[in-house]
Amino acid sequence: MKSLLVTGSSGLIGSEVAAYFAQLGWRVHGIDNNQRAVFFGEQGDTRWNQRRLESTLKTFTHHEIDIRDRAGISRLVRELKPSAIVHAAAQPSHDRAAAIPFDDFDTNAVGTLNLLEAVRQSCPESPFAHMSTSKVYGDRPNRVPLRELATRWDYDDPAFAEGIAEDFPIDQSMHSLFGASKLTGDVLVQEYGRYFDIPTCCLRGGCLTGPSHSGVELHGFLSYLIKCNVEGREYRVFGYKGKQVRDNIHSLDVARFIHAFIEAPRVAEVYNLGGGKANAISILEAFELVKRYTGRAQTYTYVDKARAGDHICYYSNLRKMRDHYPGWDVTRSLDAIVKQIVESWSTRVVS
Ligand SMILES: NC(=O)c1ccc[n+]([C@@H]2O[C@H](COP(=O)([O-])OP(=O)(O)OC[C@H]3O[C@@H](n4cnc5c(N)ncnc54)[C@H](O)[C@@H]3O)[C@@H](O)[C@H]2O)c1
Repeated sequence: MKSLLVTGSSGLIGSEVAAYFAQLGWRVHGIDNNQRAVFFGEQGDTRWNQRRLESTLKTFTHHEIDIRDRAGISRLVRELKPSAIVHAAAQPSHDRAAAIPFDDFDTNAVGTLNLLEAVRQSCPESPFAHMSTSKVYGDRPNRVPLRELATRWDYDDPAFAEGIAEDFPIDQSMHSLFGASKLTGDVLVQEYGRYFDIPTCCLRGGCLTGPSHSGVELHGFLSYLIKCNVEGREYRVFGYKGKQVRDNIHSLDVARFIHAFIEAPRVAEVYNLGGGKANAISILEAFELVKRYTGRAQTYTYVDKARAGDHICYYSNLRKMRDHYPGWDVTRSLDAIVKQIVESWSTRVVS
């Protein structure tokens, strides 16, 4: 039986990946210590999702380990020698990082190194998929000429008509401490590929979303926005007139891509993994789309100050992913995603 080790297994991506591979008949080992509740307070608690996996997946085992625990990670990887590794544990918030710089770096950069080195020592032939982020490009995408439309910003340069591709520059711009720690992890993952010939890839996510996100104001844009609407709470828009654009991809399509990579791995690859232009939406447009499913207009306040280093318009160019893995494509439209998240927030049992 093939085995998967997935870190951050109680989070959005980790839990989707765990369920996806368990359904394929793999034995799945998840690592998570509910650090999201430490980062974001009780609203970020992911124990509900851990319990869901434990009660629904017969081949799933939870390991309560902190990825910063180098000896613990090394021991577990040595014991399991997993057939593949998916690294989805992180301090995921751009804004939160400045308040907790050591926790952020120790998790995103050092935690990634702990895993990579454990894999090099115990199972260097196993594919290693790493969840990276579009924030590795810093705020440089904001230098692409933009045009202002009625409800959104868009690129005003034909070179970016399909979005931002993987050859976009990564340095000499503002990343936030989160972007810097994630970029460190990203480069380490590439290096363990190139230098040690381990089949690694970095998946530079746009907005990853889905019904299992514990969305909070500081992380999980669409999940949190929908939660505010469902619960009748006010949403705060930070700058750019609410016209800032994000591309959204369902966590299932993320898991499907990871599976495609693990089946036909390459070395030291980098992919911009997002919903692409078709799944891109601004905040103002998201309010309208959510209203279509809840019937409720979103109340919001406008804060006339953008988040430091925030993208004005970002969507991923999916061409390289489609070229390398022609069997893969985005299967969940934005409408379908929003509908499903509305249903999930309306019925979720958190305690
Ligand atoms: N969600 C997005 O929009 C998005 C966008 C781009 C990139 N990403 C990246 O994708 C990955 C997964 O994101 P997500 O949205 O599933 O995040 P998430 O917060 O939902 O899940 C991460 C999980 O990791 C766990 N974790 C955090 N620190 C840990 C530690 N030190 N030891 C063990 N477990 C720990 C948390 O408890 C949480 O359950 C992250 O690397 C994130 O940076 C996410």
